[in-house]
Amino acid sequence: MTPLLDLRDLSRDYLSRRLTGPVHRLRALDRVSLTIQPGEIFGLVGESGCGKSTLARLVIALDQPTEGQVLFDGEDLFALSPRELARRRRHFQMVFQDPYGSLDPRHRVERIVAEPLHVLPSRPGRAETRECVVEMLESVGLSADHAHRYPHEFSGGQRQRIAIARALITAPKLVVADEAVSALDLSVQAQVLNLLMELRETRGVTFLFITHNLAAVDAIADRVGVMYRGRIVETGPAAVVFDRPLHPYTRMLADAEPSVTRFGRPEPSTRPALLANTPSSGCAFAPRCPLAVARCLSEAPELREIEPLRQAACHRAEEMK
Ligand SMILES: Nc1ncnc2c1ncn2[C@@H]1O[C@H](COP(=O)(O)OP(=O)(O)OP(=O)(O)O)[C@@H](O)[C@H]1O
Ligand code: SF4
Ligand SMILES: [Mg+2]
Repeated sequence: MTPLLDLRDLSRDYLSRRLTGPVHRLRALDRVSLTIQPGEIFGLVGESGCGKSTLARLVIALDQPTEGQVLFDGEDLFALSPRELARRRRHFQMVFQDPYGSLDPRHRVERIVAEPLHVLPSRPGRAETRECVVEMLESVGLSADHAHRYPHEFSGGQRQRIAIARALITAPKLVVADEAVSALDLSVQAQVLNLLMELRETRGVTFLFITHNLAAVDAIADRVGVMYRGRIVETGPAAVVFDRPLHPYTRMLADAEPSVTRFGRPEPSTRPALLANTPSSGCAFAPRCPLAVARCLSEAPELREIEPLRQAACHRAEEMK
């Protein structure tokens, strides 16, 4: 089956300049390859700054890769003309973290939810738009009455439902949810996760679900990818990856789960900024890895299959079993 999303050796560099001194090249994403099948919920986890949002922006073509390809439904998005790309945009939408900042406070819900329709080549008329908005609101557990209200009249969970309705209105094949539940209370998180699973069942939507929250991924994802410093270091079925990690970093995340899952932010001790010396060659995780050996400092591990359906980028992955 053709994957819905096929990322091939995707890299993204940023140039950054401190107040004084030379320009630095930062590799935010480093040769990431992964596939997501139609109807799948793929969870992407990793600590702050590892490149999750960078990957999300490339997937929905809000940003261009430095190298590599994004194949959506078999088509290379960055080989399309601007007009062709604009036509494809209805098929991939995004839900952002901040349910307060992502909805324009000056507009009523009806206008906010309908907004993606305006970029469609065949834009529906007023009555049809209104009908679509009401259908979307109802499908995310809100009602027709809500269409006339303003965002400030809603709770965080309801706002996230509005953001989801907006993402769904073009009937996308893929929704990228970047920390979409992280700002919500735990009970509201559970409701929104249930809604996403329901939408997968009823509408066949495929999700790239990005989060710090391992419990959320555990609850809804079919497969998971673990990122560290711009690279995928482990992939596999969500049901087993955190129970039986094949990469020492995944194990560290799973062991730290109570602190990682609380409100989606890792404890300071797990933040990448604390890395004292990141090796220029070898495994990026080596300075924090309890299993590091001499080879880890000289040879970067490639992502490889360790057991059926499971990949890890670690020289000692077999010993983790
Ligand atoms: N526009 C930009 N210019 C320069 N550097 C950037 C830019 N966007 C991201 N970065 C850097 O790229 C790296 C990855 O950032 P990214 O936002 O993708 O991380 P993230 O995993 O989404 O983090 P978080 O969990 O905090 O949202 C970080 O070091 C970040 O500082
Ligand atoms: S390759 Fe070496 S340093 Fe890197 S995660 Fe594996 S054991 Fe640790
Ligand atoms: Mg992010």
